[in-house]
Amino acid sequence: MAKTPTSRIDKLLSSMGYGSRREVAQLAMAGRILLDAAKVSDVAKRIPISADLQSRMKINGEALDPIAGMVILLNKPLGMTCSHKEIGKLVYDILPARWRRRDPAISTIGRLDKQTSGLLLLTDDGDLLHRVISPKHHVTKTYRATLAQPLNGTEGAIFASGELLLEGEDKPLAPAALTVISKTEALLSVTEGRYHQVRRMFAATGNHVEALHRESLGGLSLPDDMPSGQWRLLREDEIALIFE
Ligand code: URA
Repeated sequence: MAKTPTSRIDKLLSSMGYGSRREVAQLAMAGRILLDAAKVSDVAKRIPISADLQSRMKINGEALDPIAGMVILLNKPLGMTCSHKEIGKLVYDILPARWRRRDPAISTIGRLDKQTSGLLLLTDDGDLLHRVISPKHHVTKTYRATLAQPLNGTEGAIFASGELLLEGEDKPLAPAALTVISKTEALLSVTEGRYHQVRRMFAATGNHVEALHRESLGGLSLPDDMPSGQWRLLREDEIALIFE
């Protein structure tokens, strides 16, 4: 069995965004760090980084944040950018402020445009991130598109052909599946993640996407009752659904 990794308390808490090592030492001196209900006095002590640490450690009276290896499901609102450094509202603003200082950093798994809403995953697990976005794994992304013009009936065949060439590109798109919901609404499932892909696909058919919402990633769907802007951590069984 793999050995549980250990870390100095000050190094661990600093990597989780609680402050510099000096600030963490000051927190401990003030009696603000508890481990198994006892005050931590020696922040140089090494402790096992095990999953139960979250329930055993309290900082400022609150349970420790999730340790590294988290996957966050967010119902992304319109108007927020999937970037660490652009000006304006960023998806990271929705998460607790100290999570911006975590190392490894939390990043979005792929991106949604500023004006796209819906299922967005964020993680600090680089291996998982690459597995989800890697073309090798063919993770299907399904979008609900609201269109400016009624569908003309040819889109399904064009998208499924595997021959559609987007403007400025030289490699045709992999086949994608269209499900028509109404004259101006459709679900589109794609396995690639090219720049503005869904908007450009409909533009190639002479239409215009007025609203775009991601409903699912692999076998993981955005829960119907999850309000825009809300987030929660995914369980292991939910993470596994991404690759189904
Ligand atoms: N395709 C787009 O055009 N925009 C997105 O945000 C995602 C897919």
